Amino acid sequence: MNFKAPRGTHDLIGPEALRLRQLEEISRNVLYKWNYSEICLPSFEDAGLFTRSIGESTDIVEKEMYVFEDRKGRKLALRPEGTASAVRAVIEHNLTQTLPLVKLFYAGSMFRYERPQAGRYREFFQVGAEYFGNPEPAADAETVIVADEILRKMGLSKTEIHLNSLGCKACRPAFRAALKDYFASQKDLCGDCRRRLEHNPLRLLDCKIDGHKFEGVPKMEDFLCPECSDHFGRVRELLQQSGRAFIVDHRLVRGLDYYTKTIFEIRSASVGSQDALCAGGRYDNLVEELGGASTEAVGFALGSERIILAASNENAFREPQGPVRVFIAVSGESLVKEAFGFAVKLKTSSRNDEIRSGLGLEDKAIRVEGPFAKKSLKSQLKLADRLGADKTIIFGEEEYKLGVVIIRDMKTQGQSEVRVRPA
Ligand code: HAM
Repeated sequence: MNFKAPRGTHDLIGPEALRLRQLEEISRNVLYKWNYSEICLPSFEDAGLFTRSIGESTDIVEKEMYVFEDRKGRKLALRPEGTASAVRAVIEHNLTQTLPLVKLFYAGSMFRYERPQAGRYREFFQVGAEYFGNPEPAADAETVIVADEILRKMGLSKTEIHLNSLGCKACRPAFRAALKDYFASQKDLCGDCRRRLEHNPLRLLDCKIDGHKFEGVPKMEDFLCPECSDHFGRVRELLQQSGRAFIVDHRLVRGLDYYTKTIFEIRSASVGSQDALCAGGRYDNLVEELGGASTEAVGFALGSERIILAASNENAFREPQGPVRVFIAVSGESLVKEAFGFAVKLKTSSRNDEIRSGLGLEDKAIRVEGPFAKKSLKSQLKLADRLGADKTIIFGEEEYKLGVVIIRDMKTQGQSEVRVRPA
């Protein structure tokens, strides 16, 4: 076969898929506790939704979106992120009017045409959360804490919360102007920085090539209007009060244009250069900009692959309490009907069904495999071993005539007999 998974995508097989599901399960449990409800969003939307939300001059919109036309010539895009879709859904279904509180979360894959490397894919998974209609600093602090809590529940310890404020429409223009002045006096800017200087001077702050040169670069904090400054101060107070350590990072900016006031990233020292496990912030203008009523909002998204990588590197994965694995073997083809029937009964049984008692399997989660009548008993037992079976139930001709089957403990090799029908 000449097909391979497309560049930047990856298959998650068995235990890897399980880890993704574990992360999603832990996230769901935390988010439910904080009163979020799930929203399942489409994987593609009108391309214009993303262009308008994320910003025309961002890398995502300029270079990374998977845009295509459907058969009726509609311009669509695979979602590069979930916030724009969540906002579209809130407006479309008038959720701020119909729900008493709009706190939504989603889990699923996102698509960006980026240069693949460890921790960076073209299709990747996110768990995202969006809180609408609460302008208070407590909502920002809650958002940071929820994200951090999920990472803690994943067992991660080498994380750092980076926090900054980007101000609002009133105070950011002066900061942008000051940045432009500052950068105009800098020589030898890289191509990306020169290109961004006109439309997006904030992005120069996190340039990986030039960033270290920018000593004495203006700080947004010095330009915040009294309201944004007070807001940022309170967010910090609330985080301190809740015992969450953070770093105020004046160089922190975001690759999406919709943010206002608080922005944050949670980085890990356990992964390589793609160290942002989570990112988010406040976006008080976006709902209105997309045609809804003025509604403040704040949220975050976790990058699932990076979190799984960090958890593996920190040996933080707790293997789930496995089910009891049962293998059904037959000594010859003559008993295949009986063994197959028994296996179906066991697989469809409930925890307290009669078939389980006697096998010592009542009240246990089980995973059942077999029988494979065409294989010899020896190779069935080998397969049972390779599958990690705890018990093998052997249908032997002599024993079955007497109404019993053999139960073999795969660890101790000890065997006993159990009656399955009257003699
Ligand atoms: P973002 O920073 O673009 O924000 O992505 C959030 C997280 O997704 C990143 O911190 C990273 O862990 C993960 N991520 C991003 N790109 C990739 C990639 N190519 N491969 C693997 N992981 C990746 C957003 O998406 C915003 N929607 C977050 C938000 C929600 N802000 C407010 N609400």
